Parts: sequence; structure tokens; C-alpha cells
Amino acid sequence: DDQEGVLNPVGLLGSKLTAEVHLIKVGTSLLKNVEKAVLSSGLTIADRYPSILASAEAVLSQEEKEEGVLLLDMGAGLTDFILFVEGSPVLTGTVPMGGNSITKDIAHFMKVNIEQAERIKIEHGFALADMVNESEKIKVKPRGEDKEIMVGKREVSEVIQIRLEEIADKVLEQINNQGVNLSAINAGIVLTGGSSKLAGIKEFFERYMDLPVRLGSPTGVIGLREKVQDPAYATAVGLLKLKPQLVQGYSLNQNPESLGGEGKIKLGSLLERIKSFFKEVL
Ligand SMILES: Nc1ncnc2c1ncn2[C@@H]1O[C@H](COP(=O)(O)OP(=O)(O)OP(=O)(O)O)[C@@H](O)[C@H]1O
Ligand SMILES: [Mg+2]
Repeated sequence: DDQEGVLNPVGLLGSKLTAEVHLIKVGTSLLKNVEKAVLSSGLTIADRYPSILASAEAVLSQEEKEEGVLLLDMGAGLTDFILFVEGSPVLTGTVPMGGNSITKDIAHFMKVNIEQAERIKIEHGFALADMVNESEKIKVKPRGEDKEIMVGKREVSEVIQIRLEEIADKVLEQINNQGVNLSAINAGIVLTGGSSKLAGIKEFFERYMDLPVRLGSPTGVIGLREKVQDPAYATAVGLLKLKPQLVQGYSLNQNPESLGGEGKIKLGSLLERIKSFFKEVL
């Protein structure tokens, strides 16, 4: 009855019920193809969730969602994002670029193969070029040359930074197109996904977006913690948190700091089951 901000109307009296919802669409053939791939590997499907919603479940706190937060899941081919305002998801989107775009750029500009470019990115890459000392050099072996040559670390960083700026611009463009104001994001930006491990990425986004930034690893996992706390597992851990009944030995987090139904997942038994599945298959 024109009363705003009610998250759970069950038990309340009224004659009119209206709701604001965020709808996420997916193409039927795309979904069917993913389902076919999963089924053909001998697995069954318990449910379907947008991966960014799962990542949010794994790395964001309830407080961040309430305060307003932008989560960027930077993977290999995609950068997915979700924006929470006042506890609810108000915008989701995708930019078709990620860590692989950066690797390809390095391969192109340094004239090296993809494998070498990936190694250069991970071992020597830094997201903000002007923070890299101009005198620092790395050895690379360009395609078609027999000898290694020296390349400035800063040049590599410039290549990385240009691509990150493009990704950030595309995210900002989608946010602006939806008329969302960045001032609603009081908790700032959280970065997750494998590409959030790039050195200097936190500093890059702090400067480029002018917002506080933190790196987000999956939380709420007990057992095998160090293995799955990698940001590359954010989506996978989030999916387990969204469907806790699938995980044997699931227990609710009793920690009073994390009220709001955040569950903890015990992964030991699940991993055993996955292992025995592969033993059967191989
Ligand atoms: N230490 C690192 N530094 C920089 N980049 C890294 C590092 N480790 C992994 N990456 C990058 O992370 C990316 C993979 O991330 P992730 O596992 O989240 O991708 P994905 O979820 O499989 O892909 P997508 O979300 O695009 O479908 C690769 O591009 C890889 O180069
Ligand atoms: Mg991903």
C-alpha cells in the first residue's frame, strides 16, 4: 500500500502489492547450449544463476550492498559487473573484454607469442604505467628473432593500462546510460575474478574511477580455504553458497558478525565427491 522499502511483505496487511524488480535476460539458445554441455559431461543441473550474482554472493558483504557497491568480475574473456544500491541489485552488465584481451595486446605490441605474453603480464605487468620505473627492463624473445631483447616494463604497463581504461569506460558508459549516479556507490568498487590478481589493478581503479577499491576473494568457506580463496573461484564458490543444500556438511555461519543468512560451506566432502566422479569417468 504505497509503503516503500519493505523487503519482506509476508504477514503484512494491505490491499495493493507493487514491487521493483531487476530482470536479467538470457538467450534461449545460449542457455540450451550451456545446459547441453553440462549434461553431456555426465553432470546434472540443479539450478541456473547469472554468474555475476554468484560472484556477488561469494565476495560482497551485506553492508556493502546496503551502502551501494559496484562489483567487477574480471575474467578471461569478459568483465561482468553488478551494481547494488540500498541492498538490491539495480544494474548488471557485461563488457566483452578481460584478461585475455590484455594478453593479446601484449603479444601484439611486444611481438611475442600468447604464452610469453601471458607470462609477461603475470610476472611483470602493472596496471598503472606512471608508477613503473622507466629504467626497469625485462627480457623478451620477439617472434622471428633468435635473440632475446630488452623491453621497458613501463611500455608493457602502458599496453595494459590502455586496455583497462577501455574496459572501465565501457562499464561507466553502461552505468551512465541507465541513469545511475556513481555517488550512490558509497562502499566503492570490489574487484574479483582471475584478472583482479593483476598487480596495480586496485590503484588503477582507485585513480580512474575516483572511488575506494578493495580486492574481493570468496568468503564463507571452511575447509580447503586457501585453495578456493582465489578470486578466480568467486563464481564457483558463490554458486555453492546459493545452493547450500547441494553441499554435504553445509552449516550456517554462527558468527554474529555475519548476520543476514550468509552461510559457510564445508568443501572437503564435495571435493571428495568430485574426485570420485572423475575417477569413475577416467
Ligand atoms: N596473477 C595474475 N595476474 C594477472 N592476471 C591473471 C593472474 N592470474 C590469472 N590471471 C588472468 O585471469 C584470467 C582468468 O580469470 P577467471 O578464471 O576469472 O576467468 P573465467 O571466469 O574463466 O573467464 P570469463 O569470466 O571471462 O568467462 C585470465 O585472463 C588470466 O590471464
Ligand atoms: Mg568468470
